[in-house]
Amino acid sequence: MRRRFHHIQPESFEFTPDNLVWAQRQVQNYPPRRQASAIIPLLMRAQEQEGWLSRPAVEYVADLLEIPHIRACEVATFYFMFHLKPVGSVAHIQVCGTTTCMICGSEDLIAVCRRRIAEHPHELSSDGQFSWEEVECLGACSNAPMAQIGKDYFEDLTAQSLSGIIDELAAGRVPQPGSQIGRFSSEPVTGETSLTEIQAGGALRNAAVERALQRGDSIRRIDGSES
Ligand code: FES
Repeated sequence: MRRRFHHIQPESFEFTPDNLVWAQRQVQNYPPRRQASAIIPLLMRAQEQEGWLSRPAVEYVADLLEIPHIRACEVATFYFMFHLKPVGSVAHIQVCGTTTCMICGSEDLIAVCRRRIAEHPHELSSDGQFSWEEVECLGACSNAPMAQIGKDYFEDLTAQSLSGIIDELAAGRVPQPGSQIGRFSSEPVTGETSLTEIQAGGALRNAAVERALQRGDSIRRIDGSES
């Protein structure tokens, strides 16, 4: 599949001061003359800051790493995790459409995205707040079907629960990530059959969900001030 930069591009890009400090620290993790190896984390941080990767952002990262622009463009256009078009200003919903999720209902989730957001993947909703795409397995197959929204996973979804999540986001709230049917992690839906003492009397939510709730940052753009 040919991947190109969006036909409309911003004039320029630069990291926020805090993201620039973070990026310079990343570069120092690599030996001298190997700074180009930091390209993926830097491109990802540029995407996390803006929501998508523009050509000026890719070229800015190339300049930071002192490599030709074309080398950074090759990386950005190769990996599907980089969004080369603007995404929804509130959220970009990545629905897993691989085998387990498909068997468990991902097509219903995609139908919700088509109805609530836009007919085609990577299209913005009419208010510009949402976009969606189908992605390959995100590694949460035992909690299928699932979607990644921002940096968090939303699992055990149904058409109804995904629609509710979109409502929450549209209202300016950050919904609870993790299993939407109350599973702690990936234990059987009928409950644990072994190691039952581990959860007995324990936390209601796993650490990832708890942390996401504390921070409320599932869909927050990353400006470097978080750490
Ligand atoms: S098949 Fe959907 S997360 Fe693996």
